[in-house]
Amino acid sequence: MCKRVQFKQHMSTYHLKSLEEYFVNYRKSISKPEVFWGEIAEEHFLWRKPWTSVCEWDFDKPEIKWFQGAQLNITENCIDRHLLTRGEQTAIIFEPNDPQESAVHITYNQLHEKVCKLANVLKDQGVKKGDRVCIYMPMIPELAYAVLACARIGAIHSVVFAGFSSTALATRINDCSCSIVVTSDGSYRGQKTLDLKAIVDEALQQCPSIKSVLVAKRTENPVHMETGRDHWLAPLMEKAVSDCKPEIMDAEDPLFILYTSGSTGKPKGMLHSCGGYMVYTAYTFKNVFQYKNGDVYWCTADIGWITGHSYIVYGPLANGATTLMFEGVPSYPDYDRFWEVVAKHGVNQFYTAPTAIRALAKESLEHTKKHDLSSLKVLGTVGEPINEEAWHWYNDNIGDKNCPIVDTWWQTETGGILISPIPFLTPTKPTYATLPLPGIRPVLMDETGSPIENNSAQGRLCIAQPWPSIARSIWGDHQRYKDTYFSAFPGYYFTGDGALRDEVGYYRITGRVDDVIIVSGHNLGTAPIEDAINEHPAVAESAIVGFPHDVKGNALYGYVILKETGADRNTENLKKEINQIITEHIGPIAKLDKIQFTPGLPKTRSGKIMRRILRKIAHNELDNLGDTSTLLNPDIVEHLIENRL
Ligand code: WTA
Repeated sequence: MCKRVQFKQHMSTYHLKSLEEYFVNYRKSISKPEVFWGEIAEEHFLWRKPWTSVCEWDFDKPEIKWFQGAQLNITENCIDRHLLTRGEQTAIIFEPNDPQESAVHITYNQLHEKVCKLANVLKDQGVKKGDRVCIYMPMIPELAYAVLACARIGAIHSVVFAGFSSTALATRINDCSCSIVVTSDGSYRGQKTLDLKAIVDEALQQCPSIKSVLVAKRTENPVHMETGRDHWLAPLMEKAVSDCKPEIMDAEDPLFILYTSGSTGKPKGMLHSCGGYMVYTAYTFKNVFQYKNGDVYWCTADIGWITGHSYIVYGPLANGATTLMFEGVPSYPDYDRFWEVVAKHGVNQFYTAPTAIRALAKESLEHTKKHDLSSLKVLGTVGEPINEEAWHWYNDNIGDKNCPIVDTWWQTETGGILISPIPFLTPTKPTYATLPLPGIRPVLMDETGSPIENNSAQGRLCIAQPWPSIARSIWGDHQRYKDTYFSAFPGYYFTGDGALRDEVGYYRITGRVDDVIIVSGHNLGTAPIEDAINEHPAVAESAIVGFPHDVKGNALYGYVILKETGADRNTENLKKEINQIITEHIGPIAKLDKIQFTPGLPKTRSGKIMRRILRKIAHNELDNLGDTSTLLNPDIVEHLIENRL
């Protein structure tokens, strides 16, 4: 696989084929980022107008601009330019929740038609360039069409994961004042049928900016259709014209907003722009998965998360790939579903989350053995650190020790993968994301905020210079963007993660160093969960920490102080009610695994909760609690320990 190719020394290579080539390109990307990205962008994409400068940036402001002056439309790059050469090739394979239902193969020609039609429907609804469109849908083809239709007409999509509650949906719609929601009557998830439209209806009671709702039919369950506001999507698409001229966008025009949890307050609407995002996701898709023409690639994420945006939709389609969209869950109808789908479609690259691997590793190996997995060439993971055991299970049982595992580290904010092995090129090492991709300059910071130069070190992970797909702002709150990412270490982008660098320079991400907890690969901020719990009439105060969980990676442990009125309540019922409130405010993903009622929380003299102590108790690490004598209420620590769960 590591065939040495002749490459032109003066040109940047789009498709890296040897480790040597990686190093040459890496060095060039760091010393001459403008030349490096300029060459890649020029050679491999369709621009309507060239740029006047490749990159201008200032991390102090912060302001980052790539390919300024250039014009393009990302859907021309993801669809139109493939029509002449691969119009009849499958662009998207849709694999439904129920294996009895046939999979659907959507060719590039068909994708073009669907996206154009939906783009025209959006236009008919009055959607214009720059308007925000909320997409709240299950993993059905219409979701991909909707995302691309927005991009076609220059509307900014804001996809909200369809597992979020109506309150969470309303917050996101209102934050960027969307004018329209695209949704479906319902969704299938394993054995469950969820009524998505009812959730939208409830959310919209608090969303004055919404003028219309487009509803795709999926489950056929009866739904309320508000006259004048709600429209079935299919008949409108049927009537719509099947061609739609792409809106010509400036490279720095916004492409989408995607919300991610912060340590405090409301979710952050990360704003991504057109040109740089396209170049970086396409380039990283090609290299990190070593995708070759004719391969079938499958990422099991939901398009509601950044992984789905970048590596189900934009990255693969920009490369003319065949990308699989899966509606279901790994456990339905049985725990072999992933492997059945791999065998059925001859999947070559498979990309999933450590949580899914750990859940499947607990089941019988018969599930993997039943299916022919020999088509697989590359395996990927994303979203949280992968533990050694899960890594080996994946390597042995799914890859048959024959498929490199790419442990890809990145974030909603980064738009694309930043640290990852390149399969067949970079020797892998379990639990290590290994080396930075071209264009990425990781820096570890020590306790004093100075960069650590040597290897065999651990620190806070920052990135020293911009790459094309870095988020440009937080929607409506540029100050928060600056405060969150560019203030802790002036002159650097701060990731919020800790990492270690081994003796050869490989990186291993050790986890969040802020109050974000990653549960089953989902980022959850502690503050919004605590706010939800505190809404319960019997609750006075609460604090959430994470603790290790063998499948989810982390689970949530809540310490809750009850008001006097709540003290004689049945605690089991209270626990259920607390989780119910969390489900209503955020969604079931944020439910607590353990709830400990306590008369107090350890606080500093200035009234700050000492989360470090709560974390240690939840982790059952009681030997080294540190100095508790300075606490306002040192006695509470003993009480918490005695009653820990
Ligand atoms: C974590 C997901 C360890 C990390 C693409 C990051 C990882 C957060 C890895 C972003 C990995 C992601 N190893 N940790 N390979 N990939 N993370 O925004 O803490 O949903 O900051 O983006 O996930 O999560 P997000």
